[in-house]
Amino acid sequence: MRVMRNSVLVLVAALFVASCGTPKKETSSLTFPLDIHSHAEPQKVRSTHLELDLTVDFPAKKLSGSAEHTVAGDGEPGQRAIVFDAKQLKITKVEAAPAARNFRTVTHTLSAPDPIKGSALRVPLEAGDTFVRIQYETSPDAAALQWLEPAQTAGKTAPYLFTQGQPIYTRTWIPLQDTPSVRITYRAKIHTQPNFFAVMSASNDQRTMSPKGTYEFDMPQAIPPYLIALAVGELQFRMIGSRTGVYTEKAVLDAAGKEFVDLEDMLKAAEKLYGSYAWDRYDVLVCPPGFPIGGMENPRLTFATPTILAGDKSLVSLISHELAHSWSGNLVTNATWSDFWLNEGFTVYVERRIQEELYGRQRSEMEFAIEIEELKKEMASLKPEDTKLYIDLKGRDPEEGVTLVPYIKGALLLRAIEEEVGREAWDAFLRSYFAKFAFRSITTADFEAQLKEQFPNLKLDVKQWIYQAGLPANTPKIDSYLLQQVDRAMETWKAGGVIDTKEWVAQQWLHFLRGLPENLTAAQMAKLDASYRFTQTGNAEILDQWLVLSIRHGYAPAAEALEKFLATVGRQKFLKPLYTELAKTPAGKAKAQSLYAKYKANYHPIAANAISALLAK
Ligand code: BES
Ligand code: ZN
Repeated sequence: MRVMRNSVLVLVAALFVASCGTPKKETSSLTFPLDIHSHAEPQKVRSTHLELDLTVDFPAKKLSGSAEHTVAGDGEPGQRAIVFDAKQLKITKVEAAPAARNFRTVTHTLSAPDPIKGSALRVPLEAGDTFVRIQYETSPDAAALQWLEPAQTAGKTAPYLFTQGQPIYTRTWIPLQDTPSVRITYRAKIHTQPNFFAVMSASNDQRTMSPKGTYEFDMPQAIPPYLIALAVGELQFRMIGSRTGVYTEKAVLDAAGKEFVDLEDMLKAAEKLYGSYAWDRYDVLVCPPGFPIGGMENPRLTFATPTILAGDKSLVSLISHELAHSWSGNLVTNATWSDFWLNEGFTVYVERRIQEELYGRQRSEMEFAIEIEELKKEMASLKPEDTKLYIDLKGRDPEEGVTLVPYIKGALLLRAIEEEVGREAWDAFLRSYFAKFAFRSITTADFEAQLKEQFPNLKLDVKQWIYQAGLPANTPKIDSYLLQQVDRAMETWKAGGVIDTKEWVAQQWLHFLRGLPENLTAAQMAKLDASYRFTQTGNAEILDQWLVLSIRHGYAPAAEALEKFLATVGRQKFLKPLYTELAKTPAGKAKAQSLYAKYKANYHPIAANAISALLAK
């Protein structure tokens, strides 16, 4: 077993110019592990702060303006240069300047684009240069940007834009050092049209619309580039608690406000467990249904799919998850995408604990048990190497590492440690871990070292968990009484008996659907639908599972609901199983291709690529 960690320790004596103009000398020791998914060379010269000035052009589907970086680091004597990542960008001018801000144009080079990483934008610098300003515009098919037509929004009257940076898409809308090991602060000025509302992963003091459509943002805490985020649309805001609220379109505001009534309590529960919230406000932006993922933990402003608005708070664990990232991920960040489990495994663990605080142990354990079922199912189809927590991504897109392994196997490791050392000691460890590494990007080895220091006599074979395939024999067992109830009901149902489902919650229904026999007939499907009205459900998780079964068992009455779902929902987690199931038969595949052709404009570029790859197989 080998740890692919190539880190360079550098002493950076950086000259910072405070806003008041008095130069302040700061010496810090920084480690930048090799990030194979970035061209940047932060150990030589790095960006510390970004100033964006961008105009949003909806008709042309492009952003244009400037990105000004504050830079630090001496680089090689006589060859000082800063290297940024850029992909799908049109760079029109690059300037540099010393602290006095007398900018001059410099001759940059843009390397031939690597299919995964994009291009290296290399800017030669003088020894005294502090600022680099890049004029640029984005491409209409930039991977990070989803431009929605009015018809794809709830209001149907105005277009909409949102960004998705993780893992390496920020470089398709901002030229920067796109590695999570480099943290930067940022400010932004965003120009839109009157009647548009812009929000970012930063302080948005103005929770009302700007008459001119110009908005200013400030993120004074250093974050990794994948957390820079922007959304523009016809948004409104509703307060939930003193530090929490929701942004969404008017038509969705009531539903979102009701679904997230517990937001302030979630925040308090998380703080009680892991220390005070570092980001001031916690708001949620509920995006249009084309949003490609469930949620994205953009700091201060989680972006979320509207498919979690089930009407009964049954799917709010997603919000607990994104909120949990305020500690695991946003405060303490994976330094490379091979360390992704540090973000997601810790977050699933913290999510479970928040859910337990709010809704009780039974609910939380049930959710965990379901996730573990899904993990085991997915692991069966993965290459053994991809079931390691620390994953080798050489020559691969970091998206390939986004499986349930970093999430659920990661959370199971933390649970296993908790079971050995006890909850009290484990909570104390986590609090000190978040405090010690706050606002830092760390590697798996950093975590291992911290664990060793705090628990030198730990019996658990942590290295096996991290660097070996599969689930160790001592994997914690998660028993869920509520799911066992469903298992018993399933036996009764199979024997033709009557089952009592009155008290069932969404996760129990999901478990029921997953437990149905493989050889269901269309008649049995019809009977199930008549009893439980699955085709009509307002719960997107249940509907998705039901639609998969409907395709598999040829249940025609669900065809209309299937088409409506595929036409509007862009969440990959839902789209992939549906298209995969369709593609299993020749007739289904033809249907899938025609549906995809019809609706792909409604999907995010990343989701569309994934579906088109799946249908090309
Ligand atoms: N940070 C992830 C989303 C992500 C991961 C985007 C990797 C791009 C690459 C986010 O926190 C997340 O995990 N979202 C999940 C929901 C969660 C409840 C498991 C999702 O979107 O499905
Ligand atoms: Zn996550």
